[in-house]
Amino acid sequence: MNAAGQQFAFFDLHPPVDDMTAEVQRGLQESPKKLSPKFFYDERGSRLFEAITRLEAYYPTRTELGLFDAHLQQIAALIGQDSCVVEYGSGSSLKIRKLLQALAPSAYVPIDISKDFLLSNAQTLAKDFPSLHVFPVCADFSQAIALPPQTNGMHRVGFFPGSSIGNFEPEQARTFLTRVAGTLGRGGHLLIGVDCKKETKTLELAYNDPDGVTAQFNLNALAHLNRVLDADFNLRAFAHEAHYNEDLGCIQMFLRSLVEQRVDICDEHFHFAAGECLHTENSYKYAPAEFAQLAGSAGFDCQQQWLDEKAYFGLYLLRAR
Ligand code: AVI
Repeated sequence: MNAAGQQFAFFDLHPPVDDMTAEVQRGLQESPKKLSPKFFYDERGSRLFEAITRLEAYYPTRTELGLFDAHLQQIAALIGQDSCVVEYGSGSSLKIRKLLQALAPSAYVPIDISKDFLLSNAQTLAKDFPSLHVFPVCADFSQAIALPPQTNGMHRVGFFPGSSIGNFEPEQARTFLTRVAGTLGRGGHLLIGVDCKKETKTLELAYNDPDGVTAQFNLNALAHLNRVLDADFNLRAFAHEAHYNEDLGCIQMFLRSLVEQRVDICDEHFHFAAGECLHTENSYKYAPAEFAQLAGSAGFDCQQQWLDEKAYFGLYLLRAR
């Protein structure tokens, strides 16, 4: 253990700021047109996502929380003491609180690209867990990251819940996991939640909820671009769609143009045909054996996996080789 002294220290790795206009314009020049799912998450989008996680139709969050409640004591016993929890994407959520309570780690390192959000979550958790050393790191977690030196010598435990791994393309997921294995070091653990493949009906209902919250979440990406870039999307002229692509093993979300229309972003014009789709998200689903294989190819052994009784969702404790 090496966290002596400092209880809270902030590390700013100054992640490069993307040129959002250029990125959006590039995506809309492609065929089919596409938009990165990161544009969902402005303040309203983050609130809408929270609302999605509470929906009856969206089973992943409550299923993962059920697995936590059932198995966190066993997970804590497998991980052991004097650990440093490294959370990929900072959360103030129930999940990290449950993990910190069960593990009682020496240090907690949340990593997030959004500085204000990261700092406010980290400060709240530091207040609520007064004996914990908290070292927030502002960085792009999909890149290689040097962890704070205060955590040297601690047993590192990565935490990546919520099936966020599913929003990477499989090759990107492998690259990300390989980097995480390198950051955690040999013997380091990764606790990761992954949504399973299942019947199409259940998957499609989760992304086409009857209350229309996912539709609002999807359309909000356009409202976000209108606000932040100089764009003029007419939200009433697009409709939410989500389908399970069985060949790829992923849910694909789109915004379908209801009419022929032109959209301006800064000084560029984009033409949409009636019925044309803008692709906004892929959410890959992995059968347990498939995920173990992906993790294996990224330098992890699967120490243990837990599934709920319907095998809807998997929680995996991986160990870096
Ligand atoms: C954040 N991510 C894991 C969610 C998912 O299920 O892929 C995002 C989401 N998109 C629509 N509903 C939820």
